[in-house]
Amino acid sequence: EQSKQISQILSEFRLTTEQLLEVKNRMRVEIQNGLSKSTHESATVKMLPTFVQSTPNGTEHGDFLALDLGGTNFRVLLVKIRSGKKRSVEMHNKIYAIPLEVMQGTGEELFDHIVHCISDFLDYMGMKNARLPLGFTFSFPCKQTSLDAGTLVTWTKGFKATDCEGEDVVGLLRDAIKRREEFELDVVAIVNDTVGTMMTCAYEEPTCEVGLIAGTGSNACYMEEMRNVEMVDGDDGQMCVNMEWGAFGDNGCLDDMRTEYDRAVDDLSLNPGKQRYEKMCSGMYLGEIVRNILIDMTKKGFLFRGQISETLKTRGIFETKFLSQIESDRLALLQVRSILQHLGLDSTCDDSIIVKEVCGIVSRRAAQLCGAGMAAVVEKIRENRGVDHLKITVGVDGTLYKLHPHFSLIMHQTVNELAPKCSVNFLLSEDGSGKGAALITAVGCRLRQELN
Ligand code: BG6
Ligand code: GLC
Repeated sequence: EQSKQISQILSEFRLTTEQLLEVKNRMRVEIQNGLSKSTHESATVKMLPTFVQSTPNGTEHGDFLALDLGGTNFRVLLVKIRSGKKRSVEMHNKIYAIPLEVMQGTGEELFDHIVHCISDFLDYMGMKNARLPLGFTFSFPCKQTSLDAGTLVTWTKGFKATDCEGEDVVGLLRDAIKRREEFELDVVAIVNDTVGTMMTCAYEEPTCEVGLIAGTGSNACYMEEMRNVEMVDGDDGQMCVNMEWGAFGDNGCLDDMRTEYDRAVDDLSLNPGKQRYEKMCSGMYLGEIVRNILIDMTKKGFLFRGQISETLKTRGIFETKFLSQIESDRLALLQVRSILQHLGLDSTCDDSIIVKEVCGIVSRRAAQLCGAGMAAVVEKIRENRGVDHLKITVGVDGTLYKLHPHFSLIMHQTVNELAPKCSVNFLLSEDGSGKGAALITAVGCRLRQELN
């Protein structure tokens, strides 16, 4: 009886192929809404132009600074790119912490902190006087009007600093550099992490024309035909579009697939009602969905002897790395229990079986939803090119994709199933998006010189 009720709770998370096809089709509609001038303003999937018009061709060269803000780690990097026969990229980087009170304090504090970290890095590298060109990977939705201007549409994930939304992020960075009066930098490009990832992978693999992040957040970008990017003048060539697909569903179009647990996670988040698809698919939220299910099951007496501990009430306890460990096939149940123990959850053997099952169902749905979104993207590219069959490479990064034992495989399978006319090759980005940001900066510098 009890196990029947448990599977009843979990059944809502099992999506049929028909439902997944429906997700793919709805994504296609939202892609079109975001691209078209007449519907763009109210579109939920924003399809933001990036002003990146080509992938790398190997002629990029120079020394660049890169910032990488918005994922698990904040990094400052020095990227040295050599072109020609001895084509190479050398990178030095340092990771810096961003305390929660800085992520959610004032914009000025956030940017002063960033510049403080740059200062430390330049000291460390002995390059304070170089006035380097800089590429800024900023993993949030930005409305760009050029490569080096981007207005923050809205914060997402765990950030909520004041006075930034609606502001030009490059301007905020330049102002903070001026305030410090210690060094100069030339901010050349602002880059979404999806775009940086696509460029990093495209440097090695020219067929890479899509970028995917399955990490703290979830998002994708791809090379779209200029004639379809109606928000930018000109019909020739291509431009990379940052989809901001995390906001898919914010108009209610996924509500028939959201569960009461998804709604609970959304209600308690920093941005209720927003990023609904991201909240079903990405690392920052999967553990929270699991926790909400476990609380409900405990209330119903199916788990933890019916006792809701303080730990279980704590937001954020199930980080991606714990979910990944719990679902690892190599672990015996005893080890699952010891992970739960480590998190402060006293479990019986039966409890640990149930917890593992819950984690598995939530992460499977996430991978399938993400795959359905990707199927819509590659199908769109196939139709753009007017071909019966498309071969394409997707550059991918993110902790969920990298650490989780099953996410990547399930996602790949879903794409294959839902986009049978496309052969999609997934390429893991080994160097993060900072390298891609530096490549974009190199092109930006060259174009600027050509104009002068
Ligand atoms: C990294 C990028 O490699 O992947 C980051 O350099 C990006 O900018 C990240 O945000 C996504 O992963 P996560 O899991 O850290 O959010
Ligand atoms: C969030 C951000 C988006 C980013 C993604 C992955 O969805 O809004 O810009 O690409 O997270 O980090």
